[in-house]
Amino acid sequence: MPYFLSPKVLFGKGALEKLGPEIEGKGSNAVLITDKTMVKFCERLVETVRDAGYEVKVWDGAEQEPSIEVALAGSRVLIDFEPQWVIGFGGGSAIDTAKAAWVLYERPDLAGKPIFPKVELNLRQKAKFLSVPTTSGTGADVTWVAVLTDIAENKKIIFAHNDIVPDISVLDPELTTGLPKGLTASTGIDVLGHAVDGYTSRQQTDFSDGLCLQAMKMAFEWLPKAYRDGSDPLAREKMQNAATIAGLGFGNSNTGLSHALAHSVGAVFHIPHGRAVGIALPYSLEYISSNPPLPNAPDPVERLVIAARFVGINANSDQERIQKFIQKIRDLEREIGEPLSLKEVGITEKQMKEEIETLVSVAGADPNMYTTPCKCKEENLRQLFQDIWAGSFVI
Ligand SMILES: NC(=O)c1ccc[n+]([C@@H]2O[C@H](COP(=O)([O-])OP(=O)(O)OC[C@H]3O[C@@H](n4cnc5c(N)ncnc54)[C@H](O)[C@@H]3O)[C@@H](O)[C@H]2O)c1
Ligand SMILES: [Fe+2]
Repeated sequence: MPYFLSPKVLFGKGALEKLGPEIEGKGSNAVLITDKTMVKFCERLVETVRDAGYEVKVWDGAEQEPSIEVALAGSRVLIDFEPQWVIGFGGGSAIDTAKAAWVLYERPDLAGKPIFPKVELNLRQKAKFLSVPTTSGTGADVTWVAVLTDIAENKKIIFAHNDIVPDISVLDPELTTGLPKGLTASTGIDVLGHAVDGYTSRQQTDFSDGLCLQAMKMAFEWLPKAYRDGSDPLAREKMQNAATIAGLGFGNSNTGLSHALAHSVGAVFHIPHGRAVGIALPYSLEYISSNPPLPNAPDPVERLVIAARFVGINANSDQERIQKFIQKIRDLEREIGEPLSLKEVGITEKQMKEEIETLVSVAGADPNMYTTPCKCKEENLRQLFQDIWAGSFVI
C-alpha cells in the first residue's frame, strides 16, 4: 500500500463547533443517518449543520451490525432528499450504514454487487461524507471500508474502496460521555484489535506502524479509565483519539487474523463486533507468534516484541515478552468485564459443534486472511475456534 489515506479530522473538546466553516457554502441539503438510540442525541450536530445553511433530514433507520437491506433503505432516503452531505452519526454500525447508503446513492447501479478496490466508483458526484462517531472503537469514521452483514448467508460483506474514506471526521469527546460501561468496554477493545492487527499486517507501512503503536499504548492506558469513570473527560477524549488513530493505522494497513475470526463468530453467533475481536485477539496472537511468517510478511515475533517494549513490558526473552503482552491484553479485558471465550458469552458445545464448519469457511473466506502474516489452513482455524470456545490458552 504505497499511499496514506485520511479525511480531515477535527478533534478535541468543542470540535463540533469547528464544523460550520468546513461545510458552509458547499450545498443546501444534508441527510444525517443514525439509529434509534442516537437520534435522541443528534440535536447539537443538526443545529450546527442548519446554522451552516443546510436543510437537514434525519433518518434513524440504521441498525446494529447493519444489513445490506438497511443500507439500501438508507440510499432510498438519500435519493429522495438529494443531499450534498451525507452524515453518519453514531457507532460503527450507523457510520457504516451511512457509508454504504452513500455509495448506493451515488451508484444505485451497484445495488447487490460487491464493492471492492478495483471497481470504478467515482463517488462525490452528488455528495461528500461527514462522520461523527459516538463510540470510541471502530475507526469507521476514517477508514475505507463499510462492514455489512448478509443475514441469509450468515457472513459479513465488506464494501472496500479508497473512495469510501470520509471527507471529514469530527471527534467531539462530549458525544461519548453517555456511552454505558458495557459498551465502553466492548467497543473500546476493538481499538486494541485494530492497532495490533494493523501493526502485524502483511500490508503494514512506516506510516501505519507509528499510528498503530500509539493507539495500542493509549488504549492500554485510557480504556480502563474510561470504563471506570465514563464522565472523565480526559479519558473519553484520549479513547476517542485512540480509536481514530488506530483507524488511520489499520485503515492504511488492514486488520488480520483476529478480525477474520471475529467477523465469523460475529456473523454466526451475533456477538457484537468489538466483543468478538476481544475474544479472538489473544488466540490470534498466540497463533501468529508460534507459526512461521509467510514470505515477504513482517515477522510477527519481531513485531510483537517491539509492541510489547513500546507498551512498557520488561522480560528476559522474546518469548516471555510476547507472553506478557498477550497476558496484558487478557488482564485488560478482565479489568473491563469483557469475556475471554465463547463459552463465557453463552455459546454451548452443541452450538459450536453445529456451526464449526460454517465458522471455518466464513473465516477462511474473510479478506483479513490475506493480511494475516502466517498461513492459516482450515485445520488451524478449526483448532483456533475450538480454543476460543473453550478458553484454552496455548502460551
Ligand atoms: N468500517 C470500519 O472500518 C469498521 C471497523 C470495525 C468495525 N466496524 C463495524 O462497526 C460495527 C460496530 O460498531 P460499534 O462497535 O461502534 O458499535 P455499534 O455502532 O454497533 O453501537 C453499539 C450500540 O451502542 C449505541 N451507542 C453508540 N454510541 C452511543 C453513545 N454515545 N451513548 C449510548 N449508546 C451509544 C448504539 O446505538 C448501539 O445500540 C460492526 O458492524 C462492525 O463490523 C466497521
Ligand atoms: Fe474491528
